[in-house]
Amino acid sequence: MTVIRVDAGEWGLAWAVDATGRLRQIGLGWDGADAQLDVEARWYPEAHPTWGGGDPHRAAPLRITHHDGTLTTRLVVEDVDTRALSDGAHTVVRCRDEEFDLAVEHHLRTFPDASMLEQWIEIDHAEPGPVRIFDHDSIAPLLLVTDDAEVVQFGGSGWADEWRWSRHGLAPGVTTLASFGGVQPHLQRSPCLLVAPAGPATEHQGAVLGLSIAWGGNVRFDLDLRPAAERTAPSSLRLRCGANPVGAEYLLDPGRRFVTPTVAWTWSAAGSHDVTARFHDWTRRRVMRDPELRRPVVVNNWEATFFDFDAARLERLIDGAAGLGADLFLLDDGWFGTEYPRDDDTQGLGDWDPDPRKLPDGLGPLAATAAERGLRFGVWVEPEMVNPASALYAEHPDWVLRDRREPIEHRQQLLLDPLREDVRRFEVGVVDRALAPGGISYVKWDANRPVTDPGSATLAEDRQANLWTDLVHATWAVMAEVARRHPDTMLMLCASGGGRTDHGTLRYFHEFWTSDNTDPVARVRMQWACSHFFPASTMAAHVTRWGERPLDFACAVALSGRFGLDLDLTALSDDETEICRRAVGVARSTQDLVQMAPLHRLHSPVDGEDPSWAALAHISSDADRAVVFAYRLEESPAPPTRLVVPGMDPEADHDVELIDLTSAGSATSTMSGRSLAEDGLEGLPVVPRSARIWRIERRSG
Ligand code: GLA
Repeated sequence: MTVIRVDAGEWGLAWAVDATGRLRQIGLGWDGADAQLDVEARWYPEAHPTWGGGDPHRAAPLRITHHDGTLTTRLVVEDVDTRALSDGAHTVVRCRDEEFDLAVEHHLRTFPDASMLEQWIEIDHAEPGPVRIFDHDSIAPLLLVTDDAEVVQFGGSGWADEWRWSRHGLAPGVTTLASFGGVQPHLQRSPCLLVAPAGPATEHQGAVLGLSIAWGGNVRFDLDLRPAAERTAPSSLRLRCGANPVGAEYLLDPGRRFVTPTVAWTWSAAGSHDVTARFHDWTRRRVMRDPELRRPVVVNNWEATFFDFDAARLERLIDGAAGLGADLFLLDDGWFGTEYPRDDDTQGLGDWDPDPRKLPDGLGPLAATAAERGLRFGVWVEPEMVNPASALYAEHPDWVLRDRREPIEHRQQLLLDPLREDVRRFEVGVVDRALAPGGISYVKWDANRPVTDPGSATLAEDRQANLWTDLVHATWAVMAEVARRHPDTMLMLCASGGGRTDHGTLRYFHEFWTSDNTDPVARVRMQWACSHFFPASTMAAHVTRWGERPLDFACAVALSGRFGLDLDLTALSDDETEICRRAVGVARSTQDLVQMAPLHRLHSPVDGEDPSWAALAHISSDADRAVVFAYRLEESPAPPTRLVVPGMDPEADHDVELIDLTSAGSATSTMSGRSLAEDGLEGLPVVPRSARIWRIERRSG
């Protein structure tokens, strides 16, 4: 009998093939790869059930209707192949239907150093006609869970409410956590999930699974909980994760291959800190672009001007940005449109020639002005979209996604159909054209509407639902081509804020716009939640006037992400200018830590007994340097005054500098690593909406 052992580092899983050829899960967890069979394999749960397979009482992760209308699929293992790779292993378990010429491959790609597993399935067939794939989850592990098992999901009200932290228990039956909309689904729900199968876990204690569905489209987690007959025995949780199949049944022709999204996951035996460390490591190594390249301090004009600017106004902002010592000026929406000038969001989208009234000489001179002031230049585009009021739409009304009805406008715009080759070429060309003047090295790629009319003229009548899958692949193909053609251009991913914060799409980008909500109080909590899966350097965080919070507080919050400013720099008071200048200086001296050093979450603002404040630190791997952030968001009856910071060398002395963004001075003291870990830093912020930042450095000699 074949046993398949997948060693994912600090955890793993084991599958066995039973006497009839079915694939069974025999182990999962910290010792999962070593699991032994206590009884015959057939008594173990199926590894990835099919509709019509073993369990008639549960929805199946895989449901396929065959070419002749047969509803059932029963798979037997045909072949198991494991290839060793330099950084892990890739196992393929190939299964075949007993009746039909249809194959399902399970792919398991390990990264033992990071304790991460990437898993997905691929389906192909040689049936006489197409098959319809109704459910196509990428993974469906079975977990034994206690009554107090919990999940943390990240679903909010939508725009400006990304990454809302929500922790709850499980109920018998199926809890579905799904997203819709196709293009910016993660505004509604991030495609990530934490599961604590043995009850509440903390930062450093308890079993925690972290899962991320690397898919730039709709996703679904189905938590299917079945209590055990014996009341004291654990319940079984079938955790189905993948692309959301609702309305997205896929008609697959013979000879074609259907590939599900990759689910990246890990199992920590010691709390969510390890989940985070592994996800950050893996995201840097496998997902984001140029993780070690120093990120620029960005000044954006969006909240400063919205659509209301001309070259002179932008030049004043560029001057302001240079005066603060920033690295890059990013020109947002509103720079284009000739026949249909883009003075608001009602028109011009799709017409990517600079508006001659605002920028008579185009983008080139602005980029040159920025360069003269020592700044790089970046530009906003939204290549996938069109306003009906545009020259593009007048010329190509047939380029939009739609069915036979008039398509619904959303933000006065429609979505181009990237299944068309000419549209894909156009979209790639949007970036080529924007970059053509030269001197532009950064692009913000936006996408400001969901899919409302899922129809494509490129798809036959019986396969319109393929759109939900094909759309993601076609969009990724465009993004991949842009990344290939412009390898030195930094790309920010945006979709009305964090509508595309997934590990699949991020492969073509350097960072994402975490949310349009830049109220620092909200941002502390969002960035906290997001930090469980994404490193700080991927989270663009700009200082704005949202929430009318104290400027030094807003700066301190943005400094724990990829720092930038989106303020009218020409309207700052002298004091405010000084605060911003100091913040840019702090970004310079702490950026390498925030970008690359391991994250330590010290006090949660979303959970626990006192979520009125937050604290986090980035400590270099050699423990020579650290930066610590503490944020007081709201009042609390007895605010603590000290913050314990473990992780520095207990024997060594450290210079501890308390940074004050509101005054030129800073207070420096000396503390041993032991004292930092036992007594803690003094002077936690007590006034609501205030922050403290400490720089810590081991004393040499
Ligand atoms: C979206 C983005 C914003 C800004 C506007 C421009 O809402 O999230 O940051 O770029 O579009 O229209």
